[in-house]
Amino acid sequence: MRLKDKIAVVTGGAKGLGQAMAELFAKEGAKVVAVDMGDLSYSNPNVEGYKLNVTNSEDCKKFFDYMVEKYGKIDILVNNAGITKDAMTRKMTDEQWDLVIDVNLTGVFNLTRFIGPHMQTMGGGSIISISSIVGEYGNIGQANYAATKAGVLGLTKTWAKEFGMKGGNVRVNAIAPGYIMTDILKTVPQELLDGFAKQTMIGRLGQPEEIANAALFLASDEASYVTGHTLSVNGGMRL
Ligand SMILES: NC(=O)c1ccc[n+]([C@@H]2O[C@H](COP(=O)([O-])OP(=O)(O)OC[C@H]3O[C@@H](n4cnc5c(N)ncnc54)[C@H](O)[C@@H]3O)[C@@H](O)[C@H]2O)c1
Repeated sequence: MRLKDKIAVVTGGAKGLGQAMAELFAKEGAKVVAVDMGDLSYSNPNVEGYKLNVTNSEDCKKFFDYMVEKYGKIDILVNNAGITKDAMTRKMTDEQWDLVIDVNLTGVFNLTRFIGPHMQTMGGGSIISISSIVGEYGNIGQANYAATKAGVLGLTKTWAKEFGMKGGNVRVNAIAPGYIMTDILKTVPQELLDGFAKQTMIGRLGQPEEIANAALFLASDEASYVTGHTLSVNGGMRL
């Protein structure tokens, strides 16, 4: 019960990494509110589903107010909702660029701008944002995605300073996953995925639970002296 009595928000919580994190956090004693623009179906009574598009800043404020009124506090925020719209730069449309920036970058800002200061006022908290190996190293055909995931690393360091000021005790970290088996990889050809697996030291792609375990560490008091950090969880892909 490493998150006993904690109140956690996980965005993009309907499937993939978000679902794995929501379920693990609940198993470890947290009350989790899983936020998604898609349908949420959890049988676990400790996970509540809340429909929200994180690109809508007014709705994000309403969600924050709802959380404070219902639970009185938020201890953990995982900014996980994210999308890809891949294209080579010369072919990338305005729509592909804007959509990815809106969800992966503005969506992260929209909730953290309320929840970060709230945690600071409450005397502590843990914010985790899901970046990517693509944000660390770049990737052909993903200029929009790489920009957002590198942007998340800049936000993480900035917020570790801002919300940690004056004894705020808010820890802000990022996780940079390698290639993890979820729906986001559905459009990636199998031969490319096989190639990625061969580039790792572990010899395979990752599982959602392996990211959830890293998030659990950063969310819990075991990481009480870890802030402003990016935890790469990629099977040693870039060694
Ligand atoms: N799976 C990987 O290999 C991998 C690697 C590196 C980083 N990531 C990142 O991890 C995060 C989760 O990805 P995943 O693999 O679980 O993908 P996924 O597609 O399985 O799940 C993403 C979830 O985010 C939700 N979502 C999308 N736009 C939203 C919005 N505007 N508002 C609210 N919810 C929204 C979707 O409905 C979906 O439930 C993303 O930020 C992704 O970029 C994934």
